[in-house]
Amino acid sequence: MHSLTETTEFLTDRPDDLARAGAMLAAGDLVAFPTETVYGLGADATNPEAIARLYAAKGRPRFNPLIAHVASREQALALGDFPPEAEALAEAFWPGPLTLVVPARAGGPVCELARAGLDSVAIRVPDHPVARAVLAAADRPIAAPSANRSGHVSASDARHVAEDLSGRIAAIVDGGATPIGVESTIVGCLGGMVTLLRPGGIPREAIETRLGRPLDTAPADASQPLAPGRLSSHYAPRHGVRLNATALHPGEAYLGFGPAKAGGAEPVAVLNLSRSGDLAEAASRLYGCLRQLDSVPSAGIAVAPLPATGLGEAIQDRLLRAAAPRESVLPTGQEALAKGD
Ligand code: TXA
Ligand code: MG
Repeated sequence: MHSLTETTEFLTDRPDDLARAGAMLAAGDLVAFPTETVYGLGADATNPEAIARLYAAKGRPRFNPLIAHVASREQALALGDFPPEAEALAEAFWPGPLTLVVPARAGGPVCELARAGLDSVAIRVPDHPVARAVLAAADRPIAAPSANRSGHVSASDARHVAEDLSGRIAAIVDGGATPIGVESTIVGCLGGMVTLLRPGGIPREAIETRLGRPLDTAPADASQPLAPGRLSSHYAPRHGVRLNATALHPGEAYLGFGPAKAGGAEPVAVLNLSRSGDLAEAASRLYGCLRQLDSVPSAGIAVAPLPATGLGEAIQDRLLRAAAPRESVLPTGQEALAKGD
Protein backbone atom coordinates (compact mmCIF):
# COMPACT_ATOMS: atom_id res chain seq x y z
CA MET A 1 0.00 0.00 0.00
CA HIS A 2 2.83 2.40 0.72
CA SER A 3 4.93 2.05 -2.41
CA LEU A 4 5.29 5.04 -4.73
CA THR A 5 2.97 3.39 -7.24
CA GLU A 6 -0.12 3.00 -5.12
CA THR A 7 -3.63 3.59 -6.40
CA THR A 8 -4.83 7.05 -5.44
CA GLU A 9 -8.44 7.20 -4.28
CA PHE A 10 -10.49 10.29 -5.14
CA LEU A 11 -12.76 11.41 -2.30
CA THR A 12 -15.54 14.01 -2.30
CA ASP A 13 -16.39 16.53 0.42
CA ARG A 14 -19.33 14.41 1.64
CA PRO A 15 -19.23 13.63 5.39
CA ASP A 16 -18.60 9.89 4.90
CA ASP A 17 -15.66 10.60 2.59
CA LEU A 18 -14.22 13.17 5.03
CA ALA A 19 -14.49 10.65 7.87
CA ARG A 20 -12.72 8.12 5.65
CA ALA A 21 -9.96 10.64 4.86
CA GLY A 22 -9.45 11.23 8.60
CA ALA A 23 -9.33 7.50 9.31
CA MET A 24 -6.79 6.96 6.53
CA LEU A 25 -4.57 9.70 8.00
CA ALA A 26 -4.86 8.17 11.47
CA ALA A 27 -3.77 4.85 9.95
CA GLY A 28 -0.61 6.45 8.58
CA ASP A 29 -1.70 6.98 4.96
CA LEU A 30 -0.96 10.11 2.93
CA VAL A 31 -4.08 12.12 2.05
CA ALA A 32 -4.23 15.46 0.23
CA PHE A 33 -7.01 17.86 1.23
CA PRO A 34 -7.92 21.51 0.59
CA THR A 35 -7.30 24.32 3.07
CA GLU A 36 -8.25 27.97 2.62
CA THR A 37 -4.72 28.68 1.28
CA VAL A 38 -3.57 25.78 -0.93
CA TYR A 39 -4.03 21.98 -0.95
CA GLY A 40 -2.00 20.25 1.75
CA LEU A 41 -0.52 16.75 1.61
CA GLY A 42 -1.40 15.37 5.02
CA ALA A 43 0.39 12.80 7.17
CA ASP A 44 0.12 11.93 10.86
CA ALA A 45 2.55 14.37 12.55
CA THR A 46 2.95 11.98 15.49
CA ASN A 47 4.04 9.05 13.27
CA PRO A 48 7.65 9.22 12.00
CA GLU A 49 7.01 6.47 9.41
CA ALA A 50 4.13 8.41 7.88
CA ILE A 51 6.30 11.56 7.83
CA ALA A 52 9.13 9.69 6.13
CA ARG A 53 6.70 8.53 3.42
CA LEU A 54 5.47 12.11 3.05
CA TYR A 55 8.97 13.41 2.38
CA ALA A 56 9.48 10.58 -0.13
CA ALA A 57 6.19 11.25 -1.95
CA LYS A 58 7.02 14.94 -2.29
CA GLY A 59 10.67 14.35 -3.07
CA ARG A 60 11.38 16.89 -0.36
CA PRO A 61 14.65 17.37 1.55
CA ARG A 62 14.26 15.62 4.87
CA PHE A 63 15.34 18.53 7.02
CA ASN A 64 12.68 20.94 5.81
CA PRO A 65 10.35 21.22 8.81
CA LEU A 66 6.57 20.83 8.39
CA ILE A 67 3.53 22.67 9.71
CA ALA A 68 1.33 20.77 12.20
CA HIS A 69 -2.35 21.38 11.39
CA VAL A 70 -5.06 20.93 14.02
CA ALA A 71 -8.83 21.43 14.12
CA SER A 72 -9.02 23.85 17.04
CA ARG A 73 -7.12 26.54 18.91
CA GLU A 74 -7.21 24.44 22.08
CA GLN A 75 -5.45 21.56 20.34
CA ALA A 76 -2.93 24.01 18.89
CA LEU A 77 -2.05 25.53 22.26
CA ALA A 78 -1.16 22.05 23.57
CA LEU A 79 1.60 21.58 20.97
CA GLY A 80 3.87 24.44 21.94
CA ASP A 81 4.80 26.99 24.59
CA PHE A 82 3.12 30.18 23.41
CA PRO A 83 4.65 33.49 24.45
CA PRO A 84 2.05 36.26 25.02
CA GLU A 85 2.44 37.72 21.48
CA ALA A 86 1.82 34.27 19.98
CA GLU A 87 -1.27 33.84 22.14
CA ALA A 88 -2.58 37.21 20.98
CA LEU A 89 -2.00 36.37 17.31
CA ALA A 90 -3.60 32.93 17.76
CA GLU A 91 -6.62 34.55 19.35
CA ALA A 92 -6.92 37.13 16.55
CA PHE A 93 -6.24 35.00 13.48
CA TRP A 94 -7.10 31.33 14.21
CA PRO A 95 -8.74 29.66 12.49
CA GLY A 96 -7.09 31.25 9.48
CA PRO A 97 -4.08 31.50 7.17
CA LEU A 98 -1.50 32.15 9.92
CA THR A 99 1.23 29.71 10.98
CA LEU A 100 2.95 30.35 14.30
CA VAL A 101 6.41 29.00 15.07
CA VAL A 102 6.86 28.62 18.84
CA PRO A 103 9.03 26.47 21.13
CA ALA A 104 7.80 22.86 20.93
CA ARG A 105 6.14 21.59 24.11
CA ALA A 106 8.54 19.21 25.88
CA GLY A 107 7.33 15.67 25.25
CA GLY A 108 4.73 17.05 22.83
CA PRO A 109 3.13 14.85 20.19
CA VAL A 110 4.68 16.30 17.00
CA CYS A 111 7.53 13.93 16.16
CA GLU A 112 11.08 15.07 15.70
CA LEU A 113 11.15 14.13 12.01
CA ALA A 114 8.18 16.42 11.31
CA ARG A 115 10.07 19.23 13.09
CA ALA A 116 13.26 18.35 11.19
CA GLY A 117 14.98 18.04 14.54
CA LEU A 118 14.26 21.65 15.58
CA ASP A 119 13.11 22.43 19.11
CA SER A 120 10.47 24.74 17.67
CA VAL A 121 7.20 23.73 16.02
CA ALA A 122 5.11 25.39 13.28
CA ILE A 123 1.38 25.25 14.01
CA ARG A 124 -1.74 26.25 12.10
CA VAL A 125 -5.53 25.98 12.51
CA PRO A 126 -6.93 26.18 8.98
CA ASP A 127 -10.22 27.91 8.23
CA HIS A 128 -11.74 25.58 5.65
CA PRO A 129 -14.72 23.28 6.31
CA VAL A 130 -13.12 20.30 4.53
CA ALA A 131 -9.75 20.71 6.28
CA ARG A 132 -11.41 21.10 9.67
CA ALA A 133 -13.62 18.03 9.18
CA VAL A 134 -10.67 15.91 8.05
CA LEU A 135 -8.52 17.13 10.97
CA ALA A 136 -11.33 16.52 13.46
CA ALA A 137 -11.82 13.00 12.10
CA ALA A 138 -8.08 12.27 12.24
CA ASP A 139 -8.06 13.60 15.84
CA ARG A 140 -4.31 14.28 15.92
CA PRO A 141 -1.92 16.92 14.52
CA ILE A 142 -1.47 16.47 10.78
CA ALA A 143 1.67 17.65 9.00
CA ALA A 144 0.64 19.13 5.66
CA PRO A 145 3.08 20.77 3.29
CA SER A 146 1.67 22.10 0.04
CA ALA A 147 0.46 19.17 -2.07
CA ASN A 148 2.94 19.47 -4.93
CA ARG A 149 6.13 17.69 -5.89
CA SER A 150 9.16 19.38 -4.37
CA GLY A 151 10.14 22.51 -6.27
CA HIS A 152 6.89 22.62 -8.28
CA VAL A 153 4.20 25.28 -8.14
CA SER A 154 1.79 24.74 -5.20
CA ALA A 155 -1.63 23.26 -5.89
CA SER A 156 -4.76 25.39 -5.53
CA ASP A 157 -7.03 22.83 -7.16
CA ALA A 158 -7.52 19.03 -6.80
CA ARG A 159 -6.58 18.56 -10.48
CA HIS A 160 -3.17 20.15 -9.80
CA VAL A 161 -2.65 17.76 -6.86
CA ALA A 162 -3.49 14.79 -9.10
CA GLU A 163 -1.02 15.99 -11.77
CA ASP A 164 1.81 15.99 -9.24
CA LEU A 165 0.96 13.18 -6.82
CA SER A 166 -1.33 10.58 -8.44
CA GLY A 167 0.08 7.10 -7.83
CA ARG A 168 2.23 8.37 -4.96
CA ILE A 169 -0.39 8.95 -2.23
CA ALA A 170 -3.41 7.10 -0.83
CA ALA A 171 -6.15 9.68 -1.50
CA ILE A 172 -7.06 13.17 -2.68
CA VAL A 173 -10.10 14.95 -1.20
CA ASP A 174 -11.60 17.22 -3.85
CA GLY A 175 -12.98 20.33 -2.17
CA GLY A 176 -12.80 22.61 -5.22
CA ALA A 177 -10.50 25.57 -5.70
CA THR A 178 -8.85 26.98 -2.57
CA PRO A 179 -10.18 30.47 -1.79
CA ILE A 180 -6.96 32.30 -0.88
CA GLY A 181 -4.51 30.64 -3.24
CA VAL A 182 -1.20 31.47 -1.54
CA GLU A 183 0.19 29.78 1.56
CA SER A 184 -0.24 30.93 5.13
CA THR A 185 1.78 33.76 6.63
CA ILE A 186 4.47 32.29 8.91
CA VAL A 187 5.34 34.27 12.03
CA GLY A 188 8.14 33.15 14.33
CA CYS A 189 7.67 33.82 18.07
CA LEU A 190 11.03 32.69 19.42
CA GLY A 191 13.64 34.18 21.73
CA GLY A 192 11.54 37.24 22.52
CA MET A 193 11.27 38.25 18.84
CA VAL A 194 8.25 38.22 16.54
CA THR A 195 9.43 37.89 12.95
CA LEU A 196 7.86 37.37 9.55
CA LEU A 197 9.30 34.09 8.25
CA ARG A 198 7.12 33.93 5.13
CA PRO A 199 4.60 36.46 3.80
CA GLY A 200 1.25 34.83 3.05
CA GLY A 201 -2.53 34.94 3.26
CA ILE A 202 -2.63 37.39 6.18
CA PRO A 203 -0.94 40.67 5.26
CA ARG A 204 1.93 41.89 7.42
CA GLU A 205 -0.05 45.07 8.09
CA ALA A 206 -2.88 43.13 9.80
CA ILE A 207 -0.40 41.34 12.06
CA GLU A 208 1.37 44.56 12.98
CA THR A 209 -1.96 46.22 13.77
CA ARG A 210 -2.81 43.38 16.15
CA LEU A 211 0.65 43.47 17.78
CA GLY A 212 0.48 47.25 18.04
CA ARG A 213 4.03 47.49 16.65
CA PRO A 214 6.11 46.57 13.61
CA LEU A 215 7.37 42.98 13.31
CA ASP A 216 10.98 42.46 14.41
CA THR A 217 13.61 42.01 11.75
CA ALA A 218 15.49 38.73 12.11
CA PRO A 219 19.25 39.11 12.19
CA ALA A 220 20.62 38.31 8.74
CA ASP A 221 22.32 34.95 9.10
CA ALA A 222 22.31 33.06 5.83
CA SER A 223 23.71 29.94 7.51
CA GLN A 224 20.49 29.56 9.49
CA PRO A 225 17.53 29.72 7.15
CA LEU A 226 14.57 29.94 9.53
CA ALA A 227 11.93 29.14 6.93
CA PRO A 228 13.72 27.08 4.29
CA GLY A 229 10.70 27.32 2.00
CA ARG A 230 11.56 30.97 1.55
CA LEU A 231 14.86 30.28 -0.15
CA SER A 232 15.43 30.68 -3.87
CA SER A 233 14.18 28.53 -6.74
CA HIS A 234 10.95 27.55 -5.08
CA TYR A 235 7.43 27.40 -6.51
CA ALA A 236 9.21 27.00 -9.83
CA PRO A 237 7.46 26.59 -13.16
CA ARG A 238 9.49 24.92 -15.95
CA HIS A 239 9.75 28.09 -18.03
CA GLY A 240 11.76 31.10 -16.94
CA VAL A 241 9.81 33.86 -15.20
CA ARG A 242 10.59 37.56 -15.76
CA LEU A 243 9.14 40.07 -13.30
CA ASN A 244 8.01 43.68 -13.66
CA ALA A 245 7.67 43.27 -17.42
CA THR A 246 6.26 46.33 -19.15
CA ALA A 247 7.50 45.45 -22.66
CA LEU A 248 7.39 41.85 -23.96
CA HIS A 249 10.27 40.01 -25.60
CA PRO A 250 9.56 37.88 -28.71
CA GLY A 251 8.03 34.48 -27.88
CA GLU A 252 7.10 35.29 -24.29
CA ALA A 253 3.82 34.42 -22.58
CA TYR A 254 2.31 37.25 -20.52
CA LEU A 255 0.78 37.21 -17.06
CA GLY A 256 -0.96 40.56 -16.62
CA PHE A 257 -2.34 42.40 -13.60
CA GLY A 258 -4.85 45.23 -13.90
CA PRO A 259 -6.28 46.71 -17.08
CA ALA A 260 -2.96 47.85 -18.64
CA LYS A 261 -1.50 45.89 -21.58
CA ALA A 262 2.22 45.30 -22.02
CA GLY A 263 4.06 46.89 -24.94
CA GLY A 264 6.68 45.19 -27.10
CA ALA A 265 6.27 41.86 -28.89
CA GLU A 266 2.98 39.99 -29.35
CA PRO A 267 2.68 37.39 -26.51
CA VAL A 268 2.22 33.69 -27.39
CA ALA A 269 -0.37 33.40 -24.60
CA VAL A 270 -1.98 35.87 -22.20
CA LEU A 271 -3.63 35.48 -18.79
CA ASN A 272 -4.51 38.14 -16.25
CA LEU A 273 -4.27 37.67 -12.46
CA SER A 274 -6.97 40.30 -11.94
CA ARG A 275 -8.22 42.73 -14.57
CA SER A 276 -9.64 44.99 -11.87
CA GLY A 277 -6.32 45.00 -9.98
CA ASP A 278 -7.76 43.11 -6.97
CA LEU A 279 -4.90 41.48 -4.97
CA ALA A 280 -7.15 38.84 -3.36
CA GLU A 281 -8.34 37.71 -6.80
CA ALA A 282 -4.71 37.74 -8.00
CA ALA A 283 -3.54 35.56 -5.08
CA SER A 284 -6.32 33.03 -5.68
CA ARG A 285 -5.42 32.76 -9.38
CA LEU A 286 -1.61 32.86 -9.05
CA TYR A 287 -0.62 29.18 -9.06
CA GLY A 288 -3.33 28.16 -11.55
CA CYS A 289 -2.22 30.88 -14.01
CA LEU A 290 1.46 29.90 -13.61
CA ARG A 291 0.63 26.25 -14.28
CA GLN A 292 -1.51 27.15 -17.31
CA LEU A 293 1.08 29.45 -18.90
CA ASP A 294 3.80 26.92 -18.11
CA SER A 295 1.98 24.34 -20.28
CA VAL A 296 2.31 26.58 -23.38
CA PRO A 297 5.61 26.48 -25.31
CA SER A 298 7.18 29.93 -24.89
CA ALA A 299 10.45 31.78 -24.50
CA GLY A 300 9.48 32.48 -20.88
CA ILE A 301 6.70 33.95 -18.76
CA ALA A 302 6.70 37.74 -18.40
CA VAL A 303 4.78 39.05 -15.39
CA ALA A 304 3.30 42.54 -15.10
CA PRO A 305 4.33 44.83 -12.21
CA LEU A 306 2.24 44.33 -9.02
CA PRO A 307 1.94 46.35 -5.82
CA ALA A 308 4.04 45.03 -2.88
CA THR A 309 1.64 45.89 -0.06
CA GLY A 310 -1.08 43.77 1.61
CA LEU A 311 -1.46 40.38 -0.13
CA GLY A 312 0.88 41.76 -2.80
CA GLU A 313 3.84 40.99 -0.51
CA ALA A 314 3.07 37.24 -0.59
CA ILE A 315 2.39 37.27 -4.35
CA GLN A 316 5.68 39.10 -5.02
CA ASP A 317 7.52 36.65 -2.74
CA ARG A 318 6.19 33.62 -4.68
CA LEU A 319 6.91 35.28 -8.04
CA LEU A 320 10.48 36.12 -6.98
CA ARG A 321 10.97 32.49 -6.08
CA ALA A 322 9.44 31.37 -9.39
CA ALA A 323 11.84 33.74 -11.16
CA ALA A 324 14.93 32.56 -9.23
CA PRO A 325 17.59 30.64 -11.16
CA ARG A 326 16.84 26.89 -11.24
CA GLU A 327 20.35 25.89 -10.25
CA SER A 328 20.83 27.05 -6.71
CA VAL A 329 23.17 29.98 -6.24
CA LEU A 330 23.61 29.05 -2.59
CA PRO A 331 26.69 27.29 -1.29
CA THR A 332 26.79 23.50 -1.02
CA GLY A 333 24.96 22.18 1.98
CA GLN A 334 22.16 24.66 1.60
CA GLU A 335 21.49 23.48 -1.93
CA ALA A 336 18.98 20.87 -0.86
CA LEU A 337 17.26 23.39 1.39
CA ALA A 338 17.09 25.87 -1.46
CA LYS A 339 15.16 23.40 -3.54
CA GLY A 340 12.48 23.93 -0.92
CA ASP A 341 9.33 21.88 -1.05
O1 TXA B 1 -0.77 27.54 3.76
C1 TXA B 1 0.08 26.76 4.19
O2 TXA B 1 0.85 27.03 5.12
C2 TXA B 1 0.16 25.38 3.49
C3 TXA B 1 -1.17 24.67 3.74
C4 TXA B 1 -1.20 23.28 3.17
O3 TXA B 1 -1.48 24.68 5.12
N1 TXA B 1 1.27 24.63 3.97
C5 TXA B 1 2.55 24.94 3.65
O4 TXA B 1 3.49 24.07 4.17
O5 TXA B 1 2.87 25.89 2.96
P1 TXA B 1 4.95 23.96 3.63
O6 TXA B 1 5.48 22.72 4.26
O7 TXA B 1 4.94 24.00 2.14
O8 TXA B 1 5.68 25.17 4.21
C6 TXA B 1 6.07 25.15 5.56
C7 TXA B 1 7.05 26.23 5.85
C8 TXA B 1 8.41 25.91 5.32
O9 TXA B 1 8.94 27.05 4.67
C9 TXA B 1 9.19 25.57 6.56
O10 TXA B 1 10.53 25.88 6.44
C10 TXA B 1 8.51 26.44 7.61
O11 TXA B 1 7.16 26.35 7.26
N2 TXA B 1 8.67 25.90 8.96
C11 TXA B 1 8.12 24.80 9.50
N3 TXA B 1 8.54 24.60 10.76
C12 TXA B 1 9.38 25.61 11.05
C13 TXA B 1 10.15 25.96 12.19
N4 TXA B 1 10.15 25.23 13.30
N5 TXA B 1 10.88 27.07 12.12
C14 TXA B 1 10.91 27.83 11.00
N6 TXA B 1 10.21 27.54 9.88
C15 TXA B 1 9.45 26.44 9.90
MG1 MG C 1 5.15 24.49 -0.46
